[in-house]
Amino acid sequence: MLFRNRKVVFLAMISLVFYFIGFMPYSRPKAASLFPLYAKYGVVSSADRIASEVGVAVLKKGGNAVDASVAVALALAVTYPTAGNLGGGGFMVIRMADGKTTAIDYREIAPAKATHDMYLDKEGNVINNISSTGYLAVGVPGTVAGLALALEKYGTMKWQDLVEPAYKLAKEGFPVSYWLAHTLSTNTDLIERYPRSTGGPRELLSKFPESKRIFLKDGNYYQAGELLKQPELALTLARLQKEGPQEFYQGTTAQLIVEDMKKNGGILTLEDLKNYKPVVREPLKGSYRGYEILTMPPPSSGGIALIEMLNILEQYDLKGLGFNSSERNHLVIEAMRRAFADRAEFLGDTDFVKVPVKGLISKNYAIEVSKSIDLGKATVSKQVKHGQPNTYESDSTTHFSIVDSMGNAVANTYTLNGSYGSGATVTGAGFLLNNEMDDFAAKVGVPNDYDLIQGEANAITAGKRPLSSMTPTIILKNGKLFLVIGSPGGPTIINTVLQVVLNVIDHGMNIQQAIDAPRFHHQWLPDALVFEPYGFSTDLINLLKSKGHIFSNKVGYMGNAQGVMIDLETNLRLGGSDSRGSDASAAGY
Ligand code: GLY
Repeated sequence: MLFRNRKVVFLAMISLVFYFIGFMPYSRPKAASLFPLYAKYGVVSSADRIASEVGVAVLKKGGNAVDASVAVALALAVTYPTAGNLGGGGFMVIRMADGKTTAIDYREIAPAKATHDMYLDKEGNVINNISSTGYLAVGVPGTVAGLALALEKYGTMKWQDLVEPAYKLAKEGFPVSYWLAHTLSTNTDLIERYPRSTGGPRELLSKFPESKRIFLKDGNYYQAGELLKQPELALTLARLQKEGPQEFYQGTTAQLIVEDMKKNGGILTLEDLKNYKPVVREPLKGSYRGYEILTMPPPSSGGIALIEMLNILEQYDLKGLGFNSSERNHLVIEAMRRAFADRAEFLGDTDFVKVPVKGLISKNYAIEVSKSIDLGKATVSKQVKHGQPNTYESDSTTHFSIVDSMGNAVANTYTLNGSYGSGATVTGAGFLLNNEMDDFAAKVGVPNDYDLIQGEANAITAGKRPLSSMTPTIILKNGKLFLVIGSPGGPTIINTVLQVVLNVIDHGMNIQQAIDAPRFHHQWLPDALVFEPYGFSTDLINLLKSKGHIFSNKVGYMGNAQGVMIDLETNLRLGGSDSRGSDASAAGY
């Protein structure tokens, strides 16, 4: 009896230790499915442990979620060069504790000299890789302007103070993680492990002397634990600190970018940089089983596709069918297939093309689209045509989610596009430039680096923003903040966010379980289902094949989701961080 009681006492003590570890101000081990990070006041979930801790330090000093976002994004530009950036762009969805919501669009834009056919040869064929590698692939960067705008509108701290942690990390260096050492030493553009059939892994950083010198140690490669110092980047950050964010667009940094462009056949000019403006947009609103969805409008395709898929799936009892059952997965795949067909046809930058947003996200449109779903049989993608939403009038990237003690929330996804972007580092400024121009349709109907077929709505025009899949999303329950989520992964972003949302709402998972659960991806064309290693049992594969689903001959991990969920009973913040890639971690206090 005594022995049994001792065992109970021992187990209770262990549980208490775990409980209190959750409140400690450092990150918990990854992939702890049963236990997300528990924090009483604030949580930062990002793709890099050091950056998450930078964010928590800002929160502890009394900064709000927007202040922390600026510091985290700048820190990631140092510690996570794969996707963290000064030379890229992104989207930030904000919900303040008083209910105010906004979306900041700091997506890159096509330079003024960009033209519709700039990536085609004389015969009209796409020239290999120039839309995704090197200087011609670069869109006008929006990150610095976007962060500054978010801070000006919703932050409380000084820009200089928020640049400081990143500056220190660049100047003093930080220990390279096993993950970063691995991706740098493989020196390819394909550490997003979702298999792409075009482009493929190719040498990237070593093609550009400045990138090779800084990130590959001139071919000697960084070992895990070694300090990576970035003195040129530190100087850039010091200039931004001293002269303010406009320095990037009009000061020495702008000049360094343009000098590099001129020397290497790029088309981006000082005028392009001077004219760059981030845009404040209304978040897109939808609902799913009574939860309110706030997500990114165009030029993201992610928000529209997410709401369209949720509207389709709301008509079915996914919970009753069960997580990862063949019936449930069949429906989710069919919803993906249809939303991506609409994406290809309709979506582009709404400042340049008309997108039937209201129709695409309307519940009635989803009912109409669902009529073509056969419960027993996969639809062949080629037979799926985009719908008629008008009649109803709707790699590498990285995401972080932040909730502060007051309940302000930020979902921020920003990107260089491919891992390490264009591969080119600005000489003397120490940061990588994006290859966002590849998110345009280089040629209508020809797959891009992510195998995505795109329409004329996403063709290249000077000043236009390329269509994105980034899906930073905030979900409310009964008007209260419930979930903040997003992911990298090109087109798999949308399906990653979808599956995390379904896992939480339909399958009752906590944020860590929802992120850890295996995922799959279908994007209409190619008509091929990709699933993660160990994600599908042989039985499940056979059942889906018997319905006619075609499987890709590749498997691959997808996404690197970072989320925060609120336990609405206790008001605790639950941080969830993906173990699929990078040294990701949630941190809180
Ligand atoms: N560059 C990836 C995306 O915006 O979808």
